[in-house]
Amino acid sequence: MEYSIKSGSPQKQRSACLVAGVHESRKLTPAAQAVDAAADRLLSNLLRKGDMDGKIGQSLLLHNVPGIFADRLLLVGCGKQGDLDDRQYRKIIVNSVKQLKQTGATEAVSFLPTLEVRNRDYPWRIQSAVQFIDHELYQFKEFKSKNKEPKKSLRKITLMVPGRRELQQNEPALTRGIALAAGVKLTRDLANRPANTCTPTHLAEQAVELGKTYPSVEVTVLEEEEMKDLGMNSLLSVSQGSAQPAKLVVFRYQGAGDDSKPVVLVGKGITFDTGGISIKPASAMDEMKFDMCGAASVFGAVAAVAGMEMPINLVGLTPAVENMPSGTATKPGDIFTSMSGQTVEVLNTDAEGRLILCDALTYSEQFEPAAVIDIATLTGAVIIALGKHATGLLSNHDPLAAELLKAGETAGDRAWQLPLWEEYEKQLDSPFADMANIGGREAGTITAACFLSKFARKFHWAHLDIAGTAWVSGKNKCATGRPVPLLVQYLTRHCEKRN
Ligand code: BES
Ligand code: MN
Ligand code: ZN
Repeated sequence: MEYSIKSGSPQKQRSACLVAGVHESRKLTPAAQAVDAAADRLLSNLLRKGDMDGKIGQSLLLHNVPGIFADRLLLVGCGKQGDLDDRQYRKIIVNSVKQLKQTGATEAVSFLPTLEVRNRDYPWRIQSAVQFIDHELYQFKEFKSKNKEPKKSLRKITLMVPGRRELQQNEPALTRGIALAAGVKLTRDLANRPANTCTPTHLAEQAVELGKTYPSVEVTVLEEEEMKDLGMNSLLSVSQGSAQPAKLVVFRYQGAGDDSKPVVLVGKGITFDTGGISIKPASAMDEMKFDMCGAASVFGAVAAVAGMEMPINLVGLTPAVENMPSGTATKPGDIFTSMSGQTVEVLNTDAEGRLILCDALTYSEQFEPAAVIDIATLTGAVIIALGKHATGLLSNHDPLAAELLKAGETAGDRAWQLPLWEEYEKQLDSPFADMANIGGREAGTITAACFLSKFARKFHWAHLDIAGTAWVSGKNKCATGRPVPLLVQYLTRHCEKRN
């Protein structure tokens, strides 16, 4: 998809389809007014006859509108004027794309970014428009044998701003939107691939590819032997039952000076989670191919940051492991010594995410991080607590948590904080080792984060549990690319604040 920005008057745009908004009730936006004036009041007359009211969700496609240069005009309902929030803006944009897909237009010029959105400036509206449009147009067809794009499909969208000044002002926002969209797409592609393709080795290869696409990203891959030497026995306890060797991908992006401490992103990369010996029930087990969405989101965030040439130092760590039952698999009760030296009794081999993350967290100490954020499809419990709308957030540093919550709001990719009080810690007590890897039925998301916090004592750390948000189930089953928008927004703000 190609995105650009432009200024100019609606009636003069040569395009397959012009997109303009109508507010409730039957109130033309300035762009629609300009068309109406050029078209001898055609729009006012149609609206008066009741063809459209302006409610969000409505639309009206017109052909051969006189007085304009565009082949079609798509009017999109925008709700009450002066009352638009982020989510309504998103709905309006998404609705316009849904309608455009049906028209056969291969290109369109949209005036929707000129809509006023409460507390959101032009750059936000432009960047978000690209983000929302690209998200809506996403398709995953790698494994469809009839992999042909229909001849007539949307290929180019021009987003309109009022004048030359805004054009200049919004160039960086356009670039950011495009880079973010590319990162989100990468995350979704990796996550949607089946586990027989997307193995730990595949992720490692894709990381190397990412390094070729973005030469500013340095990629190294640690093999099992190196992990063994580092003492990552907790991580390796998960891969020992699998025929697929574990990999630990390390991304390094140096966009700022050496004195600037990096942010470290750690992503859970379980390429398939059977549960191991504590095997999962059969129903919906296919969705456990998505158990590497945390890792995929690190790939996406790294790609977006590199695409934006963001002035920041960033490290990405993605432990990639397959969790299988077998004759060599970990058994409940087995005890391992993690890289930190702390011992762990594995009471449930299905609580494997924390076992690979804890060693990656310890590994991140060497980077002297400004902050470490891990991203993981860690617990079913977070879906019980928050449903599928919010990512669970837990942190040992409240200012970091606040930044991440804010970033999620801004990016339309929200998180919600849960407590990480020490009262929960005793649920992890083990009679045999320093800790158990499960904490019982109560507060499963919190005890999982408590476990991780024991490996994050030396830095500011936050944990994002994306089990509910990383993909949607059902007939449109698909990875969402969350929380890449949140992460990239956080990183954007992080370096704005420093400079
Ligand atoms: N990958 C799962 C978490 C998960 C479950 C994500 C369902 C999305 C949907 C994780 O490895 C897991 O199995 N967690 C267990 C932990 C339990 C054994 C303490 C869970 O949530 O049941
Ligand atoms: Mn599991
Ligand atoms: Zn898992």
